Amino acid sequence: HDVPVYCGLWKFANCHGNGLCGTDRVAVYPASNTNELTFMEKFWLRNDLKKNPNLRLACQVRVYGDVNVETLCKRREEEA
Ligand code: FES
Repeated sequence: HDVPVYCGLWKFANCHGNGLCGTDRVAVYPASNTNELTFMEKFWLRNDLKKNPNLRLACQVRVYGDVNVETLCKRREEEA
């Protein structure tokens, strides 16, 4: 749906969906409508999942039903 998931310079410097950079973090819920966390998500999100268990890497999540997606760039910009 053309929702921007990269913040700042990460719009240009990212791994283009290969799960290698961890720059496309979004919150997705309910988790029951998505795939399990991938190995790369567990690696990149290992510390932040304790604070927000809905975090995913946009390039790794597969959606099987209705979900809500919260991009984190806007929140970071508002907190700055
Ligand atoms: S685009 Fe790099 S991890 Fe998703």
